[in-house]
Amino acid sequence: MSDGLKQFMNEQLPNVEQHMYQLVEEINAPASLKEAMLYSLKAGGKRVRPLFVLAVMDHLQAITPAGYTVGAAVEMIHTYSLIHDDLPSMDNDDFRRGKPTNHKVFGDAHATLAGDALNTLPFGILARMENVPAKAKLQLIELLSVTSGAEGMVGGQVLDIEGEKRQLTLPELIQVHENKTGAILRFSIEAGAILADATEAQRNLFIEYAYHIGLAFQIKDDILDIEGTTEELGKTAGKDVASDKSTYPSLLTLEGAKEKLQQHAEKAHACLAQIPSASQYLADLTDYIVYRNK
Ligand code: IPE
Ligand code: IPE
Ligand code: MG
Ligand code: MG
Ligand code: MG
Repeated sequence: MSDGLKQFMNEQLPNVEQHMYQLVEEINAPASLKEAMLYSLKAGGKRVRPLFVLAVMDHLQAITPAGYTVGAAVEMIHTYSLIHDDLPSMDNDDFRRGKPTNHKVFGDAHATLAGDALNTLPFGILARMENVPAKAKLQLIELLSVTSGAEGMVGGQVLDIEGEKRQLTLPELIQVHENKTGAILRFSIEAGAILADATEAQRNLFIEYAYHIGLAFQIKDDILDIEGTTEELGKTAGKDVASDKSTYPSLLTLEGAKEKLQQHAEKAHACLAQIPSASQYLADLTDYIVYRNK
């Protein structure tokens, strides 16, 4: 990771995280539910989705506090998707973010419900945001609904699970990756553009950029599942082969997957080059997706 990006993260992420914990702490809900929600939020994670919101805003030279709220909202949705992804009925994982998975600590019912709570809270948070025009808020709420729901992440997770029983074709696998992982990243990137009041031309370039980022991110996740260690990843390595999942490496070989990763990274950079900026962070974040080791 570049020193600049590291500094950006150190400066910006505490704002998102403190805000996010407070948004959960202040809700009127059973203490056991809040404990399970905060357990997974506080377990860490790379916080890539809030970073994309803020890096896009910075690219357009317009970070405002709303970026922290939207960053917290999307990190909650992402964390819910991980809690459910790890459930015994889905990927059946014991480790996440370097800790026992939510259901291992709180049981399946509480983990499912903590996920439900982290799925629904963000929509209210977006609706209550101050200093954001109503039109922009409605766009954000609608975009989060589409990208995280049946037409986005949830739909992708369904196809992903069905891909365990048979080898998917490459076009099918692209659809899985685009939806299960790409859609929420697209939310972050487009949300940053909406908050920074991007022009329509800029927004279209960010949508194209997000497409390549989404695929690159999941291809890298598939590669790390093979090349990473459980300790580095903070989640069990080698799960995809063990569960016979259709992945980029299983369809194209490890080398083929790495080639695709490079191609999508180059295309993402090419989109960014068309949105000139004084900020380097979004370009650095693009490289981080490719070169990260967790
Ligand atoms: C893992 O996401 C699940 C995918 C969508 C590939 P991350 O790799 O962003 O997980 P955390 O948030 O850092 O734990
Ligand atoms: C998960 O994909 C995508 C989500 C929507 C959570 P994976 O199942 O590959 O994610 P990991 O490898 O468990 O983090
Ligand atoms: Mg999964
Ligand atoms: Mg999984
Ligand atoms: Mg994975």
